[in-house]
Amino acid sequence: MKKTKNGTFTKSNVGEEHTFYGWVQKMRNLGGLIFIDLRDRSGIIQLVIRPENENYALAETVKSEYVLEVTGTIAERESINKNIPTGEIEVLVKKLKVLNTSKDIPFEIKDDTTALEDTRLKYRYLDLRRDTLKDKLVLRSKVMQIVRNYLVENDFLEIETPMLGRSTPEGARDYLVPSRVNKGSFYALPQSPQLYKQLLMIAGMERYFQIVKCFRDEDLRADRQPEFTQIDMEMSFVDTEDVLSIAEGMIAKIWKEVKGVELTLPLPRMTWDEAFDRYGSDKPDLRFDLPIQDVTSIFTNTDFQVFKGTIENKGIINALVVKNVANDYSRKEIDKLTDFVKTYQAKGLCWLKYLEGTLTGSIAKNLSDAECQELITKLSLEENDLVFIVADNRKVTKTSLGELRKKLGHDLHLIDESKDAILWITDFPLFEYSETEGRFLAMHHPFTAPKEESIPLLLTDKEHCYAKAYDIVINGYEAGGGSIRIHSHEVQEKMFEALGFTPESAKEQFGFFLEAFDYGAPPHGGIAFGFDRLIMLLTNTENIRDVIAFPKTTSASDLMTEAPNTVDEKQLKDLAIEIVKS
Ligand code: AMO
Repeated sequence: MKKTKNGTFTKSNVGEEHTFYGWVQKMRNLGGLIFIDLRDRSGIIQLVIRPENENYALAETVKSEYVLEVTGTIAERESINKNIPTGEIEVLVKKLKVLNTSKDIPFEIKDDTTALEDTRLKYRYLDLRRDTLKDKLVLRSKVMQIVRNYLVENDFLEIETPMLGRSTPEGARDYLVPSRVNKGSFYALPQSPQLYKQLLMIAGMERYFQIVKCFRDEDLRADRQPEFTQIDMEMSFVDTEDVLSIAEGMIAKIWKEVKGVELTLPLPRMTWDEAFDRYGSDKPDLRFDLPIQDVTSIFTNTDFQVFKGTIENKGIINALVVKNVANDYSRKEIDKLTDFVKTYQAKGLCWLKYLEGTLTGSIAKNLSDAECQELITKLSLEENDLVFIVADNRKVTKTSLGELRKKLGHDLHLIDESKDAILWITDFPLFEYSETEGRFLAMHHPFTAPKEESIPLLLTDKEHCYAKAYDIVINGYEAGGGSIRIHSHEVQEKMFEALGFTPESAKEQFGFFLEAFDYGAPPHGGIAFGFDRLIMLLTNTENIRDVIAFPKTTSASDLMTEAPNTVDEKQLKDLAIEIVKS
């Protein structure tokens, strides 16, 4: 068995004899001495083979990625390599054995590879040999252990729940698995263990957690995978404060052990309304400020038709002030930003430059002197400031300016990368209006508890109902989310009614679950963290594929195994499935 870790040897080991194992990172034959960099998971150690060595001829045949077993003595190096931890020593080889050869590799095993991601995904096992990816998996494993230790210390039980189950109401499409035994019936892979974890609370488990795979058939982005991992937890006899406190304790422990950073607890909090109004997002990146400012009141009696119309339609007028850049933005660049906000449904982007004490720009001539003056005062404008304004309904105004804020933060390097901005977003709206369905849907899932004061409004004023729901946001990413659940049958029935379920349709979809609530459901609540996203944040990558051993592409395929794939006729026949070619 391998007992050595190549990357751990130092001058203190000089004179010791060991057996080393690993892959050939590099081989140099200097026409006398042969040098081999031998890599294992821990790092690299340099081997030296002299011409008089009995294995010299064998050493000459060694190529990149061959697998070697080498016995030798640690010696001090003549020319020190300061770039690697073992740079002061080398191994004077006595015996060398080639355990396996390797074909020429399709790309070099080095951090700054230029190989296309598709090639790297096809040969993922080679890609993972690169330090940059390997280190991320090492960290991923470490964080898993920190999480497990923390939760077990806090009296949580780790309990597995089925992968083959019934559809869960998380809002994405399900991955379905056909049943052979029950032809025509399907299991759904869990979008999350939501129902099961609540049933575990009813079962009296009190505190549950699971590091669990979840499956969602949704449009993929840089921070989304069709199968991803959650740190899922649920607790009984708790309210919001208890869940937030346990959850942020876990984050603090991870940040301390991984980054050596002491987070100040409790973490800052912001209500959903505040986040949406000020940053146009429920996951604001607070590593920079650039707030959205409401200037509607300046224009209540305006003659400018665009703003007047907006106010008549109960819309709002909001501004973003970008400091000291007016002269840097040409018409052409502003036109690009206009096109950008239009992708978020804004009809246009008004802009003003504050130069030499006056406002110039797209709408300057439409505004009265008094309005200009009020803008200057309200927005505390200074020379060379650039103002962007959107006038529309609340959703479009906030969302488009929020996206513009993010883009400008990025483009103008406003983000302070030296620290993480972690906060809770609380008091989410309970319902969300769906334009496509023409009705209110649950913003989270139908088991999310309304705030006490919203219970009487469930059927009459959905727009003003708020939930005991919370998300944790880190550097603009939604890293986790959860809620206190409804545990009273009456409130649950009312909630279903509010969501347009008839008692029959609710029973049809969630009957087994609702029935459980008749047998003494304790008050409970929980949260799930996106584990992959946490690792992305801890390793400073914007690509979720970097933190997953075998990820899928944005078209949900695995280039290495070529999944998904067709299956043979017999398998389809067993399942009574016929493929209709379109
Ligand atoms: P939610 O749907 O918010 O909550 O998911 C929890 C967290 O999981 C991560 N996440 C994803 N990560 C990668 N790829 C995806 N496709 C993906 N989808 C979600 C996010 C998110 O915050 N059952 C509830 C939790 C609860 O109420 O306790 C749930 O699943 O970081």
